[in-house]
Amino acid sequence: MKSGVSMEILDLRHFAAPLLRPLLEAEGEAWRQRLHWDYRTSAKLMMQYLDGRMLPGYAALEAGQVTGYCFCVYEETKAVIGDVFALASPLPGDGEAGEPARDVEETLLRHLFETLQNSPHVDRIESQLLLHPSGAHSGAFRGAGFDEYRRLFMVQPLAGIWGEPRIDIPPELELRAWRDDDLTAAGRLISEAYTNHPDSLINDQYRSTHGSLRFLHNIVRYSGCGTFSPNVSHVVVERATRELVALVLGSRVSAESGHITQICVRPNYRRRGLGRLLLSVAAAGFLRQGVSEVSLTVTESNENAVELYRAEGYECVHVFDAAVWQRELIG
Ligand SMILES: CC(C)(COP(=O)(O)OP(=O)(O)OC[C@H]1O[C@@H](n2cnc3c(N)ncnc32)[C@H](O)[C@@H]1OP(=O)(O)O)[C@@H](O)C(=O)NCCC(=O)NCCS
Repeated sequence: MKSGVSMEILDLRHFAAPLLRPLLEAEGEAWRQRLHWDYRTSAKLMMQYLDGRMLPGYAALEAGQVTGYCFCVYEETKAVIGDVFALASPLPGDGEAGEPARDVEETLLRHLFETLQNSPHVDRIESQLLLHPSGAHSGAFRGAGFDEYRRLFMVQPLAGIWGEPRIDIPPELELRAWRDDDLTAAGRLISEAYTNHPDSLINDQYRSTHGSLRFLHNIVRYSGCGTFSPNVSHVVVERATRELVALVLGSRVSAESGHITQICVRPNYRRRGLGRLLLSVAAAGFLRQGVSEVSLTVTESNENAVELYRAEGYECVHVFDAAVWQRELIG
């Protein structure tokens, strides 16, 4: 902290939603500018949780004003850091814009790490702070024993893409729109597609069908990442077994942006053009909704996928970090 004003870090559950409203509005503006993401639905959900006083986390208080917050959610013995955000220079004469915010965010994160790492029931902490540029909080994460993984936020402008894609698919396969009863088969496909994959290090949900189903419920049912678009989302089915062999899922994250929340192909069907086909089917679906760009995130070391996206016209516009801490079991 550069300012002379002292800051207090308090349990987030002391604060009702109205006290955090200016902070959430400023954060919404940052999401809009940096990622073209409409943060209002997430902010509304946050406010409900805040009013329910059920969100574990911390708030930074300066001169009676909440200037920063961070929170996590628990999934069994894992804690997922949901967000950290602090206002840049909220008070007059508070130094250079941007700098104090990062300091406050790091202080909040350190408090949260200390709480979680001293909670015996927590054996793993995951974090993907999409809004924050890679390296922004590396000091805090690395200092607390986290491993970090660079992730790319890539965008494809849809201007210049017209009409429906040519569906060129082997006769033993069928392409169709997502159906609600695809959830369980999709969970099986995701856990198979991510076996020994870098993303399974970052998100342990990918390591089992049960975990993948949890991921899917969050995306499809609870709008965990924008509003799910069933018309954009597609599956490829093997006619003989009726099993899913590939899928793409899309959500609407703002009036102008669609987001691919998942794409995967079963290992024995890779390199036959299914990934490329599903991306173009999803892009056509978004185009029909009047969206002007599609985004997705990918781990930098997932070179095959990065290669596919670049070939399809996606460009990296932002790099952020995923971070993981795993408790070492003694004995
Ligand atoms: C990434 C993935 C979806 C690609 O699916 P796919 O059906 O194999 O992709 P395609 O056959 O359409 O490949 C299209 C292009 O992508 C690139 N590509 C895909 N796989 C590649 C590989 N193993 N090596 C090199 N380039 C590759 C190539 O440019 C390829 O074009 P080409 O075959 O004409 O050379 C698939 O590998 C997968 O499911 N991976 C595991 C899950 C995953 O990583 N999902 C993405 C998370 S962000």
